Amino acid sequence: MNICSGMWLITRGCEIMLEFKNVSFKYEEDPDFIIKNLNFNVDKGEFISIVGPSGCGKSTVFRLICKLEKAFEGDIILKDKNINDLKGYIGYMPQNDLLIPWRTILQNVYLPLEVKGENLKEAQVQAEKMLKNFGLEKYKNKYPKDLSGGMRQRASFARTLLTGAEVLLLDEPFSALDAITRVSMQEWLIDKWLALDKTILFITHDVEEALFLSTKIFVTSETPIRKFKEIEVPLNYPRTRSMIDTTPILKVKEELIKELKRGVKL
Ligand SMILES: Nc1ncnc2c1ncn2[C@@H]1O[C@H](COP(=O)(O)OP(=O)(O)O)[C@@H](O)[C@H]1O
Ligand SMILES: [Mg+2]
Repeated sequence: MNICSGMWLITRGCEIMLEFKNVSFKYEEDPDFIIKNLNFNVDKGEFISIVGPSGCGKSTVFRLICKLEKAFEGDIILKDKNINDLKGYIGYMPQNDLLIPWRTILQNVYLPLEVKGENLKEAQVQAEKMLKNFGLEKYKNKYPKDLSGGMRQRASFARTLLTGAEVLLLDEPFSALDAITRVSMQEWLIDKWLALDKTILFITHDVEEALFLSTKIFVTSETPIRKFKEIEVPLNYPRTRSMIDTTPILKVKEELIKELKRGVKL
């Protein structure tokens, strides 16, 4: 694994995976910019959480990365290539990601391969392998409604992984889960991230979730987003919950909350 942030300097000469270069964006019908001259880099193998108040433009950042929206100005670069010249480079799990209700879990999970036009039998084999790895093989012929919230999120993540993309965008994947399931899913996600060589960008409004998961946290508190304050999390992996309550991390948490509060208007 190639993690470049903070204490995690395992490999030197880090590779930049994703770059925003002076990116600006506004929705057509809206007079105001949501993103203005935004620059940031994400190194290969990092786990970045983006934290900010609701409505500030976090999901819009993801929509730009996967070309659901087009930047008004600036460039988004993935491994030295402009995303305008790329296809199938991102695994995106949107905020309201729902598995398709009339497809079985297996059929949902192999969907990205089906869309790519891959051999259906081969796609099924890959999806089955993934479901087994995620402890969902017993549910492969069930429908989304038959699964718990945590299981559905695992199935969605499996589907996202089957895109084969190196960069995964996860938009508040655990926000609808109950507290206990959420904690288990966070631990599960870190296990998967440590096992797979992926770069993850993860949106959350939960500061503790960001601290537990991330190598680095990008905080923003205002719209338009002009800059992310980048805060490294000085913790090793595997992590335990108690590590979050140690003095250095509590200091980082304070810094995060202070930054978030800057944009709050009561
Ligand atoms: N498709 C859209 N068309 C117009 N405005 C939008 C659209 N999607 C989001 N917005 C607006 O853009 C702003 C940022 O939204 P979003 O990126 O979803 O914020 P966040 O994910 O931080 O909650 C909000 O004011 C929202 O109402
Ligand atoms: Mg959002």
